[in-house]
Amino acid sequence: MTKKGVFIVIEGLDGSGKTTQAVLLTNRLSESHNAVYTAEPSLGKTGTFIREHCLYGEKRLPTEAEALLFAADRVEHMQNEILPALEEGKLVICDRYVYSSLAYQGSAGLSLDWIKTINARALQPDFAVFIDVPPERVLERLQRKKSVMETLETQRKVREVYLKFVEKGELIRVDGDNLKEAVAEALYATVLDLLKTFKDSIS
Ligand code: TYD
Repeated sequence: MTKKGVFIVIEGLDGSGKTTQAVLLTNRLSESHNAVYTAEPSLGKTGTFIREHCLYGEKRLPTEAEALLFAADRVEHMQNEILPALEEGKLVICDRYVYSSLAYQGSAGLSLDWIKTINARALQPDFAVFIDVPPERVLERLQRKKSVMETLETQRKVREVYLKFVEKGELIRVDGDNLKEAVAEALYATVLDLLKTFKDSIS
């Protein structure tokens, strides 16, 4: 298959505003491109299982089991949604992807190499952005019931892993500790700039 389309990943802590920002970005890009929003855990069978059974219990599953479930969801999501959209030349904005597994399950003790191995079939994104908000701020913002991942200690560790990938140049950091509109503007400008390289692949 010749890959068309562009695959963009948006990452961030829980409560960082990443979903709002990914949706705003998709709407704005839709003015000029065929852009679609999607997210993990996905709406497929495995993603629904994760949402229903793994996020809000008394305690977390064994971390290996979490990582395997997220990896399984990713295979399903990729085959059913991401690849078909890319084949149509769409710009796919994906809210969380392999970096979430590296950051959340990696910071819970799993080796990053093992997480990469079980995700080896997952298509590489063209680029990935990390919306950075301090962990103290994200937890203040979360009004709803907190999931098993949403403690200050967990979020701090998760951010550390994300920042390692920023240092390596695999994630592009956008400052998310600002007004919604300002973050949206910064994210849009960053993505537009990166998209210049891909202008022949998108519809
Ligand atoms: P989240 O984006 O917060 O979903 P929603 O906004 O619909 O509640 O994702 C749910 C949780 O799943 C979040 O705490 C991060 C976690 N997660 C992982 O731990 N590993 C992964 O690979 C993914 C995709 C998510």
